[in-house]
Amino acid sequence: MRPIGACLRLFCIHRRRWSSMFLLISSLLLLLFLSLSGYLEECLSRALPIFYPNPSQLSSSRLASIPLPPFLLSPANACSPPPLLLVLVSSAPSNRARRDAIRQTWGSLSSTTSSSSLTLFVLAVPDKTEERSALVHEAVAHGDIIQANFTDSYRNLTLKTLTGLLWALKKCQGARFLLKTDDDVFINTLALSAFLKEQHQELQYFGRINWHVPAFRNPENRHYVSHELYAGDYFPPYCSGIGYILSLGAARHLLQEAGNGPWPAVEDVYTGILAKAAGIAPRHIAKISDGPSIPHNSCCYRTMFTSHQLTPRGMQEAWNMLNEEGDHWCPPLTLLFCRTFRQPLDPGENGAS
Ligand SMILES: *[C@@H]1O[C@H](CO)[C@@H](O)[C@H](O)[C@H]1NC(C)=O
Ligand SMILES: *[C@@H]1O[C@H](CO)[C@@H](O)[C@H](O)[C@H]1NC(C)=O
Repeated sequence: MRPIGACLRLFCIHRRRWSSMFLLISSLLLLLFLSLSGYLEECLSRALPIFYPNPSQLSSSRLASIPLPPFLLSPANACSPPPLLLVLVSSAPSNRARRDAIRQTWGSLSSTTSSSSLTLFVLAVPDKTEERSALVHEAVAHGDIIQANFTDSYRNLTLKTLTGLLWALKKCQGARFLLKTDDDVFINTLALSAFLKEQHQELQYFGRINWHVPAFRNPENRHYVSHELYAGDYFPPYCSGIGYILSLGAARHLLQEAGNGPWPAVEDVYTGILAKAAGIAPRHIAKISDGPSIPHNSCCYRTMFTSHQLTPRGMQEAWNMLNEEGDHWCPPLTLLFCRTFRQPLDPGENGAS
């Protein structure tokens, strides 16, 4: 009997070892899955409010006195009826082809479609006289351009974002959410709006969070931020400027924290700084894509809320894929696939951040 007993004991010990091994490996795999698919960050970001001050009080006089340049072009009736989601696309004067691609694709959806979104472009004043008059013609033809009186330049991008937010607070008070994005981003407004319809809190700031980024202190860097503009060694967590969402209430709180300028040139960082001051913590959304483009396929465009770095042709193709007739089934791990197999950046292409 003794050998059998020993054998059984050995088996039990091994079985315990194997089962703990199995447990360890499966938890590691689960962790890997959660982190690659972005769900881990989604969970972690839910704890951020603990580290934030309470939301600031609103002061209407402060909002009225923000020294932003006056509007030159303002699409008067664009917001009636008001959309659920107002998309503010930061665009440069020379990017007419990109604006047209957006107009012909996802930007063609309006307040009255099921996405209940409205897309407007935010620009400043081009240097060249021809470009100035071309922009006025474009605004007359399409009625979708917001323009404020400052020089359109990379260093003034923050001013562009602030301008867009201020316009929304003044002229589009019925909108519930604002999305700040760039003119090379494809937005699945239908999927995004469906998500936003479920969000009922008043102060919201959603996007892809950049955590613990050291302040850019190299003066050669086009993102350079001086000590005077931001004293900390690390920026607070902020949502990537490729696409972030603010509820209208949050935009109001953020704007009243905006100083009198000058502002740091990196607009997304500055939005994060304002949000911290206003006591509004960002929330990570896995379906908002990271920098480089996601795989060019219909399941990815269907699943993700945003896809970065599309050429005008890519934009049209993505739109066609999204609107294809027929079977729309996508495999279970689509989000993981789309986020993991991103394509490298196009050389020569400059993302905003
Ligand atoms: C726009 O700014 C320029 C220069 O800063 C100024 O000369 C011009 O009068 C301004 N235009 C409007 C309509 O405010
Ligand atoms: C930003 O805009 C202001 C107002 O038009 C202008 O004075 C300034 O030169 C611009 N900054 C850059 C870097 O273009």
